[in-house]
Amino acid sequence: MRIADRVKKLGTETAFLVSAEANEHASKGNKVYPFHLGDLNIRTPENIIQASIKAIYDGKTGYCPNAGIKELREALAQDINRSHDSDFTWENVIIEPGGKPVIGKFIDCLMNPGDEVLYPNPGYPIYESQIEFSGGVAVPYTYKEGKDGFLLDLDSMERAITDKTKLLIFNDFQNPMAAEASMEELERIAEIVVRNDLLVLCDEAYFDIRYSGCSKSLASLPGMRKRCVLLYTFSKKFAMTGWRLGAAITCRQIADIYAKLNTNDESCPNHFIQYGAVEALKGDQSGPKKILGILKERRDKGIKLLNSIKGFRCFQPESTFYLFPNVTEVMENMGFKTYHEFRKTVLQETGVSFCTRLHFGKELPGETNRYIRFAYSGIDIPEMEEGLGKLKKFIEG
Ligand SMILES: Cc1ncc(COP(=O)(O)O)c(C=O)c1O
Repeated sequence: MRIADRVKKLGTETAFLVSAEANEHASKGNKVYPFHLGDLNIRTPENIIQASIKAIYDGKTGYCPNAGIKELREALAQDINRSHDSDFTWENVIIEPGGKPVIGKFIDCLMNPGDEVLYPNPGYPIYESQIEFSGGVAVPYTYKEGKDGFLLDLDSMERAITDKTKLLIFNDFQNPMAAEASMEELERIAEIVVRNDLLVLCDEAYFDIRYSGCSKSLASLPGMRKRCVLLYTFSKKFAMTGWRLGAAITCRQIADIYAKLNTNDESCPNHFIQYGAVEALKGDQSGPKKILGILKERRDKGIKLLNSIKGFRCFQPESTFYLFPNVTEVMENMGFKTYHEFRKTVLQETGVSFCTRLHFGKELPGETNRYIRFAYSGIDIPEMEEGLGKLKKFIEG
């Protein structure tokens, strides 16, 4: 069979491959402690479920406008305006079947073959995959370990820019490192963006998953609104990963192209769940508050347990539901040469399943530290205690 050449460049979200391995291990009767996937084992709030069911009975089961229903576009514009100090209208909001499609459509709208696109490494693997699949050149920038958390390596971003650089993908409240930019760093990024005439995808999938303080967006800085596409998702805040609902929020010109791509790709987003999403934004907020409370307890527990393991060093993040401990010393002391070997052995010996740094991009030249990622969105505290207890025993031997 003749498959298109560009398919060779298509990557994947490798956390799903780790899931398949964990499921296989479990199918042999082994206990698995699932820290690998950023999915939630928490139920979608009841008012959202009921509003969606009502919409089905009200007959909202046919096609709807390709950019989504006006009620939801309006509700989301108002929600974003409150948190981003912006003045978006419903026409700036295009509803998508999840946050992920906002990434591919950003590339489709704005990248020509051969254009260079800056993306974070370690980072969400779909960026690199989508850029290369569409004939672009994926150019990484990176993060470094600071005193209290991971910091953007803005020099690596500046160094990566050439006259072919057209786009920047920026994921604040970052997966997998849970890194967050300071206001000074955001200002410097804004300056880099303007100086190099770049357009930006602000992937804010975890903007509302925060445990203290207040999230700030690059798009809120002067001059940035017209250069940014915001990626919004209902997946995390409202525990709706399987519902598949998100949005692109951007200037009218780009928004209209997203709507046209929707017509080509899906016709329209899933109709009736958009009424559930209106309820999510405008109705009772005790559901997302409860979700955040559960996640915070897990974060506190996870940090304590991981840092109690000899050789683990883990920062306490204020956002996302990921922990990214440094395990350089552990791997060295135990004689593990590769991430693969370490991850597989830990799964076999303890049932603890996690992703490694390599699931978020290739190691960069000069990189010597080793990291793994624990997602605590899909595992309850008693299981966390049991699993990380086994991990501690295995590592401390
Ligand atoms: C950084 C980041 N962006 C986007 C997404 C996409 O999420 P969804 O398509 O479920 O909205 C994810 C999911 O894990 C993510 O981690």
